[in-house]
Amino acid sequence: MDPLPDPALVVLVGAAGSGKSTWATRHYAAPEIVSSDALRAVVGSGPADLDASSEAFALLDQIVSGRTRRGLTTVIDTLGLDRDRRLRYLARARETGLPAVAVVFAIEDRLCRQRNSARDRPVPAPVLTTQLKAARATLDLVAEEGWDRVVVVDQGVAEVTIATPAST
Ligand code: CTP
Ligand code: MG
Repeated sequence: MDPLPDPALVVLVGAAGSGKSTWATRHYAAPEIVSSDALRAVVGSGPADLDASSEAFALLDQIVSGRTRRGLTTVIDTLGLDRDRRLRYLARARETGLPAVAVVFAIEDRLCRQRNSARDRPVPAPVLTTQLKAARATLDLVAEEGWDRVVVVDQGVAEVTIATPAST
């Protein structure tokens, strides 16, 4: 993979267990990564405490706002499947002059299910099916949303940039 712009606003997109957090920690320093799971654990009883979601996302937005205002690299580690949220992050990148990067985890369903079932708290199978479907649809959407770079992570190993407009 060509090096990603740095600083940048990087938005991860992918189903549960598709390898987002693993990829993020491999490529970025811990303070650069803003994770909805981690923030659920801060304001709730743990990363899976869905009752804490709205407060966790409010904090996430505040952290993204503070870091991007300072021009700091910010990696948003959420499912990334909510289009309105994704477009708000993209708008924030534009406002602050940061390059906007979407990283889509398009691993095989089978591999994602395998990883999910091996985890402590697997996401229920039907929920994962919905997320996998949404992630595939998002792959087409992001290409049209205006990101400076779209990176596709395939199998969690190969990484292919599918769009590199001249602006970066
Ligand atoms: N994993 C792996 N090889 C990779 C990436 C991930 O074996 N290349 C494993 C991780 O060790 C973990 C599981 O797959 O046990 C899920 O990876 P994770 O990065 O946690 O997935 P996320 O997409 O972050 O899942 P979530 O949305 O639930 O946070
Ligand atoms: Mg994760």
